[in-house]
Amino acid sequence: MAAVDCILKLGGSALTQKNQLETLKADSLQRAAAIVSKLRGAGERRCIVVHGAGSFGHFQAKENDVASGAPAGSAASDNLRRGLCLTRLSVTKLNHLVTEQLVSCGVPAVGISPFGSWKTACKNVSQAGIEAVKDVLDAGYVPVLHGDCALDLEQHCCILSGDTIIEVLAMKFFPRRVVFLTDVSGIYSCPPDTPGAQLVDSIVIGPDENMEPPVLTSVLPHDTTGGVSLKLQTAVKIVSQSRGAIPVLICKLDSEAAERACLTGEMNGGEGTKISFFER
Ligand code: ADP
Ligand code: IPE
Repeated sequence: MAAVDCILKLGGSALTQKNQLETLKADSLQRAAAIVSKLRGAGERRCIVVHGAGSFGHFQAKENDVASGAPAGSAASDNLRRGLCLTRLSVTKLNHLVTEQLVSCGVPAVGISPFGSWKTACKNVSQAGIEAVKDVLDAGYVPVLHGDCALDLEQHCCILSGDTIIEVLAMKFFPRRVVFLTDVSGIYSCPPDTPGAQLVDSIVIGPDENMEPPVLTSVLPHDTTGGVSLKLQTAVKIVSQSRGAIPVLICKLDSEAAERACLTGEMNGGEGTKISFFER
């Protein structure tokens, strides 16, 4: 399979006002689309965009407990099914907005919803819709996936985070880099709103997938996918399973550093967090 240049996650917290139902940060979306357009202009033609849900999806998922699904062995309730439909309507609305902005910046972007072709068992990916992504890339388009609901073999359904999707895509497409663009400058020693929190420039993953330095995290009550700790877990897996061949960078979408991180994989001290593999 031909290599991919960059897999980019546009975090729901970066694209939307996370606490206000279905509220887009239009300037941030424009900035994100301009970055993808520049990537293509710089010759990085095979890139995959994955975005999160933010306030398009998390509220509906939380209200209807879509992430927990139905107890094993019991049928889904009408309420659960309705919750899944409402969550999908909301997150696909955001997918339309993101894809539309990319196309208006000249990027040949095509939205691909994971629901249906990606499946889970006890919340773990059991089937990934890789063929569709590969075909779209091979035909010269930029696939735009998103965190979504998924049908689950054990619990009827669950929420599949964009971060988990990226972990699977990275192992299949082996990109030159994975970049997470979020609403804070990177990974902090403890939640960024805590006194004394410091931006961590570099996190090194040891042979046992241990992280140095360790960090403390927090998550919003209506976040249904685990917040920044899932992102870190994804980054650790990508870096350790590729034994450092795929670097992972995390930085703020609304920053000068974001464009450079995506285009070159380089970041200066204080600009974000680079996650790399321990070398003897
Ligand atoms: P995204 O929506 O971009 O995928 P998340 O909302 O899941 O990202 O995670 C980003 C949020 O995590 C930030 O808004 C930040 O406040 C929170 N957070 C909590 N702990 C940390 C930490 N140690 N470092 C960075 N962010 C953290
Ligand atoms: C969540 O996807 C998908 C939902 C339907 C709720 P993510 O986990 O990737 O979303 P963000 O980035 O945290 O908003």
